[in-house]
Amino acid sequence: MANALKSAAKQDSPLTVLGLESSCDETAASVLRYYPDGQVDLLSNIVASQDEEHRPFGGVVPEIAARAHMRKIESIISKALKTSGQNWDEIDGIAATAGPGLIGGVITGLMGAKGLAMALGKPLMAVNHLEGHALSPRLTESCPFPYLLLLVSGGHSQLLSVKGLGDYDRLGSTVDDAAGEAFDKTAKVMGLGFPGGPKVQQWAERGNPEAIKLPRPMKGRDHADFSFAGLKTAVARAWDVSDKSDTAKANLAASFQRAMTETMLDRVGQAMTLYRQRTGEAGQARLVVAGGVAANTELRAGLKSLAQSRAFDFIAPPLKFCGDNAAMIALAGAERLAAGLIDTYDAPARPRWPLDSDAANAAPKSGYGKKGPKS
Ligand code: KG4
Ligand code: ZN
Repeated sequence: MANALKSAAKQDSPLTVLGLESSCDETAASVLRYYPDGQVDLLSNIVASQDEEHRPFGGVVPEIAARAHMRKIESIISKALKTSGQNWDEIDGIAATAGPGLIGGVITGLMGAKGLAMALGKPLMAVNHLEGHALSPRLTESCPFPYLLLLVSGGHSQLLSVKGLGDYDRLGSTVDDAAGEAFDKTAKVMGLGFPGGPKVQQWAERGNPEAIKLPRPMKGRDHADFSFAGLKTAVARAWDVSDKSDTAKANLAASFQRAMTETMLDRVGQAMTLYRQRTGEAGQARLVVAGGVAANTELRAGLKSLAQSRAFDFIAPPLKFCGDNAAMIALAGAERLAAGLIDTYDAPARPRWPLDSDAANAAPKSGYGKKGPKS
């Protein structure tokens, strides 16, 4: 990644890293110890959610988010350090999300990390938030490179071949909305509450997934891009003409969740073929799901059986590491520090920061939405 400096020597002793996350609506700090063999000891993992502050608006309000991060970041860092039982001398490096995300929050976390790193004379790792999600399975289990990654969150939907640290090959991405955004907007239209994903899932449990016919955008196409905007619009139309009863709500939530799941499974199936072609991996491979939407039970179950049928091992992080957290940022920072990849104290905050600049600059195979691809 640009701006990364190779430090003189690679690390071969355990590293203790503080990580900060503040790119959306969670203010989070975590301390972990990373061992040369890839083992991780999570010493603390503090997350302060802003859900209550955004709930009245049915979505994340950037200005409210930025102010909340500023109010909370200092106490969250102190709590993470105290809980970890470490003191500042024992911290080997400071990592923070430097993008992509809402710029006010990103600046708050990154400036905090820079201040600490400078004052303590420690290395700084300016971490790509998506790299944090991509490495999140490695927090809790052995998940060697390479693997196929479905990254689905509130801001991103991508299929990536994760070949190594900082080495990503994009196989597909959304041409319009992100998967989590589709869940959130659907919940908003139906008045289910915020954040939308878990609410849709709760309502879906009581509904009939076959009740309402909804589209499966891009299904069967021979690429691995996604589109969710049409599905979201179809839900809004179905809701308009429904009787708004609890049964109607549950049926629409279940039908929407089924359409989302089937759409994602179809795209992952395509990506599996591309992954095997591009990596030459013919034997047992690995499929990982990450990001907030990875918490969805129906999606996890669907991915598990798809993986089995296509000779992929399926790895899904525990729920607390699916959504935004600082443990994944501390891990990405520790892996970068161990590899000698540190950043200068003037590392920029980036509202947009693709993991794989080559693919990001190329047009998606399926074309652009009106506003262009979001991620
Ligand atoms: O990764 P994340 O915490 O933040 C971003 O980086 O965007 O993802 C948040 C997204 C939200 O859109 C939320 O509605 C969705 O993840 N989400 C879910 C579930 N839990 C959270 N979507 C579907 N089913 C869930 N159980
Ligand atoms: Zn995220």
